[in-house]
Amino acid sequence: MTELIILKLGGSVITKKKEDKAEINEEVLQRIASEISGAMKERKVSLMVVHGAGPFGHVPAREYGLDTGLRDNRQVKGFSITHHSMERLNLLVIDALRKSGLNAIEFQPSSVGILKNEKLVHFPTRALEGILRIGLIPVAYGDVLMDEEKGVGILSGDHLVPYLAKKLNASRVIIATDVAGIFDSDPKGNRNARLIPRINSENIGALSIGNSTTTDVTGGMQRKVRELLNLEIESEIISALEPGLVKKALLGERNIGTVIRK
Ligand code: ATP
Ligand code: IPE
Repeated sequence: MTELIILKLGGSVITKKKEDKAEINEEVLQRIASEISGAMKERKVSLMVVHGAGPFGHVPAREYGLDTGLRDNRQVKGFSITHHSMERLNLLVIDALRKSGLNAIEFQPSSVGILKNEKLVHFPTRALEGILRIGLIPVAYGDVLMDEEKGVGILSGDHLVPYLAKKLNASRVIIATDVAGIFDSDPKGNRNARLIPRINSENIGALSIGNSTTTDVTGGMQRKVRELLNLEIESEIISALEPGLVKKALLGERNIGTVIRK
């Protein structure tokens, strides 16, 4: 199989996460789609896209307490509402990609994946491998899943990405978010925060990585970095709000954000 890149599009980039509104950032999304399309014309790689939820997922998930397990029947309705909202977002992302000429298709996590205490324990990938092999671009997302311990649970796109990177033997993971990378403290709260060009097992302990300031039921930046650090391959957190960086990263350029490697 050709080299596989997994690209995560953060909820903070593609949605109005800051305003807690279940709406997309249409212009940004379309620009990113055309950057992906430009890169795919210049370089032959397999690409899997995973996107976050922003308010499309976090708001209903919190309202129905889906992040704390299944306790009552009302949450079944919440499951349906939250999943449906994520499917709407997924469709908008796929529309944007297809408008840019990319052959993107939905890959729905809740119909195949199983969690155990919020950890992904089952996610069959044979179909996914075939989809990638023929050159389609599967687009998965953070979703509500069955959880063997808690009844239901939330699968974060940030948890799915490293899982798939390992299982599908990806060569690179690119996390596109709304900040330039990882800073020595939250850049949204501290204007003097400094960008950390590289994170490894030695310097991670010294960093103050907070959670996202908006409604986020899945752990924000901190969890993202820790899971990426467990991978054997390199990953990089970049800003998708700065035009051109997603394309550069897909074309193989490095050191444009924060590189994470054991
Ligand atoms: P989503 O999780 O909705 O897909 P995302 O992946 O784009 O969104 P978040 O999980 O919201 O991103 O995390 C990004 C946020 O983390 C940034 O907007 C920033 O405010 C916050 N953050 C906290 N600490 C740090 C830090 N040390 N360096 C960089 N960002 C940080
Ligand atoms: C959360 O997904 C999914 C739901 C709340 C249903 P993510 O954890 O991937 O979302 P972001 O990245 O924080 O937006």
